[in-house]
Amino acid sequence: MAKSEKPELMVNGKRLDGRMPGDLRPVRIESGVLKNAAGSAYVEWGSNKILAAVYGPREALPKHTSDPEKAVIKCRYQMAPFSSLEEHGRTGPNRRAIEISKVTKEVFENVIIRENFPGSEISIFVEVLQSDGGTRAAGITAAAVALAGSGIPMTDIPYAVSIGKIGEHIVIDLNKIEDNYSDADVPIAISPRQDKILLLQMDGNMTREEVSKALSMAKESGKIITKLQTDALKAPYLKISEKYKNGAPSLPQQPREQQPQQPK
Ligand code: CDP
Repeated sequence: MAKSEKPELMVNGKRLDGRMPGDLRPVRIESGVLKNAAGSAYVEWGSNKILAAVYGPREALPKHTSDPEKAVIKCRYQMAPFSSLEEHGRTGPNRRAIEISKVTKEVFENVIIRENFPGSEISIFVEVLQSDGGTRAAGITAAAVALAGSGIPMTDIPYAVSIGKIGEHIVIDLNKIEDNYSDADVPIAISPRQDKILLLQMDGNMTREEVSKALSMAKESGKIITKLQTDALKAPYLKISEKYKNGAPSLPQQPREQQPQQPK
């Protein structure tokens, strides 16, 4: 479809996938999915499928990238060659991937307690396996779980979601077709505990009132995302406590060694 042939994105107040303006797509989050990473997470968000992994803190290399007062955060976002119908296989990081890596890094620079690890680096990897709009938001949400799961101290567990506008309708969590044809698409990342905005990129135009309405819709759905994040982080421990709910298993009895008889 040519970009000029704008499809009807809202029919009878509902979106093409049946959602109401303030609805999130179905989100599933799993923590600790990779054995060799310090922390990891897998997120399915609508049709997006995203892996996030964290390595570190470890010695910052090359040395000139290190900061003697705090950890440096490095981030690489990339789309797998098979992640969308567009071409991603032939070149290295493109401008978009570099931009998303940068904004993701900046989100986490604001919540990781970097002073705890002077001279070291913490690397965040976001790999998009399948994409359908909103991958930077889903990637940030996944990376937050990976970081929390790694035990790296943070002041909060951020989440991200997009807000936007389709005609007169303020919507959240735009999928690819909405992202392409909406009147505004604004990815945001939020630190829920501190109620701070850590990322806001605006593609299109929204008035101050529209942004404020959209933000409260995003914060409502943020409660759902935060719960999914914390549930994912708790899940492995709940499994262990379920396994041992009747007490720890007793160790197999070792045969007692024959003690030499003491002469009387
Ligand atoms: O994914 P996000 O919405 O954060 O970023 P975007 O640049 O607004 O892209 C919207 C969607 O278009 C992506 O999620 C992908 O599905 C698709 N896209 C792509 O496949 N390849 C690109 N180079 C850019 C976008």
